[in-house]
Amino acid sequence: MEECVSEHILVTGGAGFIGTHLCAALLERGAHVTAVDSLTAGRLPALGRLRQHKRFRLIEHDITVPLDWESPVSAVVHLASPIGPAHVRDHPVRTLMAGSVGTVNALEIARRHRSRIVVMSSAEVYGDPLVQPQVETYSGNVDPTGPMSGYQEAKRFLEAMTMAYRREYDVNTGIIRPFNVYGPGMLASDRRVVAAFIAAALAGQELVVNGPHAVRSLCYIDDFVKGLIAMMESDAAGPINLGAPEGTAIGYLAELVVSTVGTGTVRVGQSPETGGAARCPDIGLARGTLGWEPSTPLDDGIRATADSMRAMLESRATVTFDVPSAWMALIPDGFELECRADSVRTALKWLTDGCPALAPRILSPAGELVPWTNVYLARDNIRHLDGLDTVLTGDVILTALPALAGG
Ligand SMILES: NC(=O)c1ccc[n+]([C@@H]2O[C@H](COP(=O)([O-])OP(=O)(O)OC[C@H]3O[C@@H](n4cnc5c(N)ncnc54)[C@H](O)[C@@H]3O)[C@@H](O)[C@H]2O)c1
Repeated sequence: MEECVSEHILVTGGAGFIGTHLCAALLERGAHVTAVDSLTAGRLPALGRLRQHKRFRLIEHDITVPLDWESPVSAVVHLASPIGPAHVRDHPVRTLMAGSVGTVNALEIARRHRSRIVVMSSAEVYGDPLVQPQVETYSGNVDPTGPMSGYQEAKRFLEAMTMAYRREYDVNTGIIRPFNVYGPGMLASDRRVVAAFIAAALAGQELVVNGPHAVRSLCYIDDFVKGLIAMMESDAAGPINLGAPEGTAIGYLAELVVSTVGTGTVRVGQSPETGGAARCPDIGLARGTLGWEPSTPLDDGIRATADSMRAMLESRATVTFDVPSAWMALIPDGFELECRADSVRTALKWLTDGCPALAPRILSPAGELVPWTNVYLARDNIRHLDGLDTVLTGDVILTALPALAGG
């Protein structure tokens, strides 16, 4: 790739799945990169490697709060958002805030520094499409109050506000509509379909397929990042679809995962989680404007993703919490207390995010409820560790003391 030492790129959501791959690609071509991330989803194994790079900086910050950013920046890429049906249904308010207030704050940085900004919308703006494949001029079939409306309307607002900044303030904006992106670095705890299937297969469990004929467009991460960088380097306004033009049936994906991993079984179930409408992009605009199209075959991509997840599971640091049995009763299907995080702080955030039933039960030492975003155990309450920023390199045990266990 071309060397561009003077570039400084700000990536909101830079600790996430797409963000860590994008940051790595930008560093490789000589750019300075600052990731701004609240670490609510975390993607820490890859982030740990990025943090060793001298041109990389991480700012832990919630982008729904304005960022005091003074250094010149050549481009902003706005990725920060909750994602995945399960997370979006659990946290629609946070999702709408990231897409609305968070987008305005990212756009303001680009406006102040006269820089290019590329924002990440989603194929979800098409809702349950009545047109196949979806071309960018199709305005979608969206329910503004449905279960996914928190995400869909966040992305529609993001697009509208981005176009407003372009028209009214002459900001050099670009909008991407990604379809499903997958690849190495996805966590087993990620509840999106590819990661969920691979995690289940690696654990020798059932892959529950809801709507085996439902179709998804699955784009390998390396292909996707090339399209994202091409968009960053262009002046195109978009929106531009980025995705695999040929759809993959969910039933076929499940079979492919089982045969690639070598364990697991496929069962057709009823939950809506992986069902839904067929989504397939028309990528004519990406081909014509950016000279982009994906090239990684699905079976190669699934193999690389499964290998990476297996390696992560084998080398993980296990954080075990001693959870009172009263809490366990609140959790319907049992609860695996595990995460892959590079610090105690992130592990705690992951825990409360991954199992919201726990969050309202956590009390401060003064006995007051602590909102999930602020859940930090006090230093004295952590055994066998020195503090919240302690790096987790092996198996460790944390004990949540009774004083913090809540009623
Ligand atoms: N991966 C896909 O298949 C896909 C498809 C369509 C759209 N997208 C969009 O691409 C972007 C990145 O997706 P991803 O797959 O990397 O998701 P991800 O969850 O792995 O990464 C998102 C990151 O944003 C951070 N974040 C969330 N809210 C934040 C906030 N308020 N302030 C700062 N950081 C915050 C999270 O901590 C996380 O690190 C998202 O905007 C998503 O909607 C992704």
